[in-house]
Amino acid sequence: MNLSYLYGKLIKKLHGTCVINSCIDNTSVIGRSCNVVNLAMDKYSYFGDCCQIVNAEIGAFCSISDHVFIGGAEHPMVWVSTSPVFQNVRHSGPSKRFAKFDLPKSKKTIIGNDVWIGHGVTIKQGVVVGDGAVVGSNALVTKDVPPYAVVGGVPAKLIKYRFPQEVIDRLEEIQWWNLPDEKISGVVDLFHIMNPSLEDINRYFPEIP
Ligand SMILES: CC(C)(COP(=O)(O)OP(=O)(O)OC[C@H]1O[C@@H](n2cnc3c(N)ncnc32)[C@H](O)[C@@H]1OP(=O)(O)O)[C@@H](O)C(=O)NCCC(=O)NCCS
Repeated sequence: MNLSYLYGKLIKKLHGTCVINSCIDNTSVIGRSCNVVNLAMDKYSYFGDCCQIVNAEIGAFCSISDHVFIGGAEHPMVWVSTSPVFQNVRHSGPSKRFAKFDLPKSKKTIIGNDVWIGHGVTIKQGVVVGDGAVVGSNALVTKDVPPYAVVGGVPAKLIKYRFPQEVIDRLEEIQWWNLPDEKISGVVDLFHIMNPSLEDINRYFPEIP
């Protein structure tokens, strides 16, 4: 192992992650070099490296790739200037010499359960991404995404739905992501069936009306 390799490894490790005022389930994981403020993240979710998440709720079993921005701050466009030097905000930008005015509070962004967000996605503050949705790489999401929709592009548009509507409705009724781990372990074979039908799902959850 040569010195420059070790040096590279060290520098990578030093790119720390900053988590402020957040509640992250201990089964969930945050990548390197992330900036996280006011986040509530449920069980078995993760996001990759270099993400910025501000004022958001993320459900369970979400897969969030690298370089994803969720709920970033917005500068006031209706003031004479958008520059933060006029705003009473904590930031690492330029001098706050003229800071006098408070910014309106940012809107909370909600990411449902079992959501997959691809590489380089930006999700505007206040957007709601439904359970089971998929956001394609490099999308800019400006509007709510329905459950189990696959969206992509700038601005993001509907590409398709993952499953037929009857299957989506049933998954939303069951809310398997809220079940205890032992129950999920008991039905885990369902998670390997491609394009499961309503009958497949009901076979594994006969007791849920
Ligand atoms: C969105 C995604 C899941 C769709 O996958 P898919 O179902 O295999 O989609 P297809 O390749 O069959 O494409 C279907 C249509 O969506 C379009 N499309 C696919 N991905 C897109 C994206 N990221 N943005 C915009 N449009 C996209 C295709 O051009 C195609 O359009 P058409 O029907 O007009 O020809 C996938 O393309 C994607 O972005 N995955 C994320 C990968 C990633 O970021 N991985 C990081 C590790 S987690």
